[in-house]
Amino acid sequence: MKKKFLGLAAAGAMLLTLAGCAGGGTSAGESAGPKPVDQLVVGFSQVGSESGWRTANTTDIQAAFKDAGIDLKFSDAQQKQENQIKAIRSYIQQKVDVIAFSPVVETGWDAVLNEAKAANIPVVLTDRAVDSADDSLYESFLGSDFVEEGKKAGEWVLDEYKDSTEPVKIIQLEGTTGAAPAIDRAEGFAEAIKGDDKFEVVASQTGDFTRAGGKQVTEALLKSNPDANLIYAHNDDMALGAIEAIEAAGLKPGVDIKIVSVDAVKDGMQALADGKINFIVECSPLLGKQLVDIVKQINDGDTPEKRIITEETTFTKDQAAEALPTRQY
Ligand code: AHR
Repeated sequence: MKKKFLGLAAAGAMLLTLAGCAGGGTSAGESAGPKPVDQLVVGFSQVGSESGWRTANTTDIQAAFKDAGIDLKFSDAQQKQENQIKAIRSYIQQKVDVIAFSPVVETGWDAVLNEAKAANIPVVLTDRAVDSADDSLYESFLGSDFVEEGKKAGEWVLDEYKDSTEPVKIIQLEGTTGAAPAIDRAEGFAEAIKGDDKFEVVASQTGDFTRAGGKQVTEALLKSNPDANLIYAHNDDMALGAIEAIEAAGLKPGVDIKIVSVDAVKDGMQALADGKINFIVECSPLLGKQLVDIVKQINDGDTPEKRIITEETTFTKDQAAEALPTRQY
């Protein structure tokens, strides 16, 4: 495995500085070789606190770094890209050893990631990807395969309606516009159902991954599509908002209008066990330990895997009831 010590990266930065180039880059330890783990400083820029998934993800990451004895500087971007860019710039200025972040949207990162690169600070993507032609801008991307998640949701729909000869009218509640999970879950789902034209996505709108957004959009879309049969929500929080809207319209969620969603957080799993959601595709927020391992590998001069895909499953009503008592998030 290729050795790439943080210290050597810093030495490279010093050479660049001597040559008159920009970039301080002495952050990652000036001696060649790993730093003691308890001297590492990692800057993490989180998307926000839009969902139960996100809260679980934040808790897990903070706990994993605390357990590892690594100083984690944490900032909440409140779903705004400009806040994440500011946070990353501040971590560069503070010369942290590694920057990790979960990008709120896919595009628009090249400039700030080039600044981190010039400062020789390794960047790790967690949960969400960036859309950049230059994959040297980050060391590793740890997170789910969102296209696969969308496909699993679509495959459940295919199976659920396999005997139906009637049209199936679908409302899609999209995640945050421009975010990788919103783009990819829509793509995977469309791919799965495209072979059968009885399935039609009659409306698709963003609920921004929030419960309030899911409720508001469902209220409006049920009025314009009173014959909808199914809601595909890009996360549980929007599905839970949709349940409130369906009940307020005098209908039974899970029966009059079926719901399939993604995440499998406790509240979603409870709704599934109660029959208000019909199927959930898991998206695990428990990325903390793997992120710590990646940081340690970089510190040791090892090259982490470029893409680490999270292991995930799916849940039916019975499986949710069985999993709930020991569900971690
Ligand atoms: O990026 C992961 C997604 O972001 C989760 O599915 C959603 O709940 C969160 O807000």
